[in-house]
Amino acid sequence: MSLLLGVNVDHVATLRQARYALLPDSPNAEPCPVQASLDAIAGGADSITIHVRGDRRHMQEADAFRIKDAIKVPLNLEMGVTAEMIAIALSLQPEFVCLVPETREEVTTEGGLDVVSRRRDVGDCIRVMQKAGIRVSLFIDPEIEQVRCAAELGAEMIELHTGCFGNATPATVDAEIERLAAAARVGHEVGLQVNAGHGINYLNCRLLEAVSYLTEYNIGHSIVARAMRVGLEQAVREMKALMESYSSSK
Ligand code: PXP
Repeated sequence: MSLLLGVNVDHVATLRQARYALLPDSPNAEPCPVQASLDAIAGGADSITIHVRGDRRHMQEADAFRIKDAIKVPLNLEMGVTAEMIAIALSLQPEFVCLVPETREEVTTEGGLDVVSRRRDVGDCIRVMQKAGIRVSLFIDPEIEQVRCAAELGAEMIELHTGCFGNATPATVDAEIERLAAAARVGHEVGLQVNAGHGINYLNCRLLEAVSYLTEYNIGHSIVARAMRVGLEQAVREMKALMESYSSSK
């Protein structure tokens, strides 16, 4: 089966907020995350990912609801494990959520969710989501202990944090790929759908070919950056073509 691509459009909202944080509903407020989602889908996105953060630095709740209404592919809501976000997810009803760690100071999500030390609240959140018919992914570091714990907690999916892989040097990249491969293998063995995300770009995505059992990549920054030159639809199309070129050669 070919690899799926989830496109994270948070940065579109980041750009809008840079000018219109106080006037998000102004007719001048641009660019529009709904239009960006539709453009990404036109380019071949299999799902749209958004992260409503506690500090609302990019996506606003209203964006989430407008996107959910406008798109026909699954919506993946990244969310911190907080009562506020659980309430938003239950009302939004995305097809799936990805539970992530969240700290106010970070520029972007910096590490995986430590599901081993947060068993109880993560487990509670998973049950609440599943009861509402929402599938759950856990964004975790590629560590076997975390993968096994995700399965024990009953999540359907994991998203392996590829940030260290994305920042790897020629000296460290092989070790990072091996860590991802080992985690993906165990994830597959314990029955989880295994996704990957963070720091994947047009150059390094080919290296992930060495990691078996991946179902979906979640990519934001690199695609939105490429869109500055070629437009979002084309940027997504190019990434999909790259992914297809090597998944079909597997
Ligand atoms: N997956 C998760 C869980 C994330 O938090 C992010 C960043 O928002 C991404 C994927 C996308 O990462 P990037 O923007 O580096 O492609």
